[in-house]
Amino acid sequence: MKTPTRILVLFCLLTLLVQGQNNIEEKIENLLSQMTIDEKIGQLQQGFNGSDNIENGIVNGKFGSFLNAGDIETKIEYQKLAVNESRLGIPLIFGRDVIHGYRTVFPIPLGQSATWNPDLVKKAAEIAAYEASEQGIHWTFAPMIDIARDPRWGRIAESPGEDPYLVSVMAKAMVEGFQGESLSNKNSIAACAKHFAGYGAAEGGRDYNTTLIPENELRNIYLRPFKAAKDAGVATYMSAFNDLNGVPTSGNKFTLKQVLRNEWGFDGFVVSDWGSMVEMINHGYCESETDVAKVAIEAGVDMEMVSQAYANELKKLIEEGLVDIEYLNTAVKNILRVKFRLGLFDNPFPEYEGESALLKSENLEFAKKVAHESLVLLKNDNVLPLSNTLNKIAVIGPLANSGRDQNGTWAPDGKSEDAVTPLTALRERFNDRIVYEAGLKTSRSTDIDNDAVLKAVQQSDVVLLFVGEEEIIAGEAKSRAFLNFPGKQKELIELVSQSNKPTIMIILAGRPLTFSAEAELVDAILFAWHPGTMGGPAIADVLFGDYSPSGKLPVTFPRTVGQVPYYYNHRNTGRPAPITYEADIPLGTPLNPKDFVSNYLDVPNSPEYPFGFGLSYAEFEYDDLSLSSTKIAPEENILVSLEVTNKSDIQADEIIQLYIRDRVGSITRPVKELKDFKKETFSPNETKIITFTIDKEDLSFYNYENKLVVEPGKFDIWVGPNSAEGLHAEFIVK
Ligand code: NOJ
Repeated sequence: MKTPTRILVLFCLLTLLVQGQNNIEEKIENLLSQMTIDEKIGQLQQGFNGSDNIENGIVNGKFGSFLNAGDIETKIEYQKLAVNESRLGIPLIFGRDVIHGYRTVFPIPLGQSATWNPDLVKKAAEIAAYEASEQGIHWTFAPMIDIARDPRWGRIAESPGEDPYLVSVMAKAMVEGFQGESLSNKNSIAACAKHFAGYGAAEGGRDYNTTLIPENELRNIYLRPFKAAKDAGVATYMSAFNDLNGVPTSGNKFTLKQVLRNEWGFDGFVVSDWGSMVEMINHGYCESETDVAKVAIEAGVDMEMVSQAYANELKKLIEEGLVDIEYLNTAVKNILRVKFRLGLFDNPFPEYEGESALLKSENLEFAKKVAHESLVLLKNDNVLPLSNTLNKIAVIGPLANSGRDQNGTWAPDGKSEDAVTPLTALRERFNDRIVYEAGLKTSRSTDIDNDAVLKAVQQSDVVLLFVGEEEIIAGEAKSRAFLNFPGKQKELIELVSQSNKPTIMIILAGRPLTFSAEAELVDAILFAWHPGTMGGPAIADVLFGDYSPSGKLPVTFPRTVGQVPYYYNHRNTGRPAPITYEADIPLGTPLNPKDFVSNYLDVPNSPEYPFGFGLSYAEFEYDDLSLSSTKIAPEENILVSLEVTNKSDIQADEIIQLYIRDRVGSITRPVKELKDFKKETFSPNETKIITFTIDKEDLSFYNYENKLVVEPGKFDIWVGPNSAEGLHAEFIVK
């Protein structure tokens, strides 16, 4: 297409878009003008399957939405009541937690992030939307994009990890996947960026706990993925449970009004989290339900999930002149806008085709691919990949055959019986060459069947040991003060190691765990997260060399829980940090100023496995880092290039990561920050030239006055296979 024609087409498209939006605004105004105050308040209420008097309520316009409404027939019945029998026929919007798949379950979001492959993550969300939309779901409470730096927090499983850049990339991918080309497409569902904001910084890693985050840290770290979601067109946001700097996020004018509406121009709607509005009473921020309704509506919460402060109190508040009706009108408009964008007024009912969309074979195949790429190889003493010709293979451990656990947290529509477990996949490949003995019933069990385990191990050539944590102890309200393997799994590993058989430990878990002692006892470690429906075949493929592992950690693995919160992009102290061991300090040592360093006496400062780390069966060499310029003006770009060579004779993927450090700032800057990455497939012995562009956005940060700035000075740049290694160069911003 010639440029003038292109411009014309673009202009026409834009005009149509603006007209469409104007059209929607007219329809909203028109509808609003017909609504009673009760009907308006009704739009703000999200009911759930346990709400009272549902049918009557729908007919009387008391609900704008439902979550967990039940099966598709129930949803159709409710929608018929809303559309055909309520006075204005406003359709309901049905929400559901479609977090990492619907019936086809993909790896938990933390595992998906370990793929560093936004295209895969986007398509996984698209498949989830496809399955869910055919079941009458219009709206998912995902993506969850809380930065999570503390593995004690169980909801780290739902997060794409600790890094603002990586989480932002994943946020965009998920929003685009769920929402498709247009929200009104039959298989698109509205996304919801949650939990807004700072929820992942819960003190002590204890769920729902207080968060204290200075504004520029909020903007530099925690808000960035939410802005990326906005830029990707996310339809809704969810406020959170946490008290943020003294103001609960479900009544927080700063995040919900100033940032989200005024600065970012968001025009969809905000839903509260489950009962989070009335929890402001427990927080000590509101006195009563009346107070809650006033605070939340004025802060900008449009829809109330489950609790009923708006339904009970808002009318009175408005009638008494204590709340301006414009707050209510704005909330209703925001909700109707999303309903119009979803096309619900024209197509309120799903095109129901029975179970047709669920578990399609090509989608299962794709789920296996996502699981492949999510697996992170942490250790390999030359035992992997295994040969297919082994005589006997022992499969041991409580997580070898647990569909429910491999599906992971927040997979309410996944079924354990659909999950192909590692045991099933391995038996399919090797039939009776597999000797299986769980050893422990669950990850928390304490009674090992020693004899049975030893018998299985002794007759085998290799041991595949499946340990970790169950789904039920990872996720919401599942914070843990210890990060070790629960139950008697350590003893199980010790028992197996007595046999001196090559042992591969496969860890299924929803969070980073600490296992340095156990790591010494095994020859290889594959970290599998909770890998979803097709986790078993994916693990088998990787163990036996059909796919070279390529996953890299989206979160730092600490050595011990005492180091957390631990994240790679921390700031420096003023002190050096040599390693000193408690046991090495001689009795009666006099105080020595040299010893006043920032470290623990009993553990090094380094992590067990750094952010971005993951091994491959191939070996990659990084060479020839060069910059197009080493001195730039703030507006200029730098082209970075290097050579990466696959030194092996197998095909493999590698994730090449670019980090920078702003040496001196008007506020101190992190010691490293991920700014870009590329995931590339390398043929055997292939060398590729990899290029990146560093631009103004990469160099900028929010300063003390919360202004986005690029400050002149020296920068470091590293390009490497993880956050702890890489080729280094420097440049200067003039
Ligand atoms: C509470 C959780 O915090 C939130 O993430 C979820 O979407 C809602 N419950 C609805 O189930």
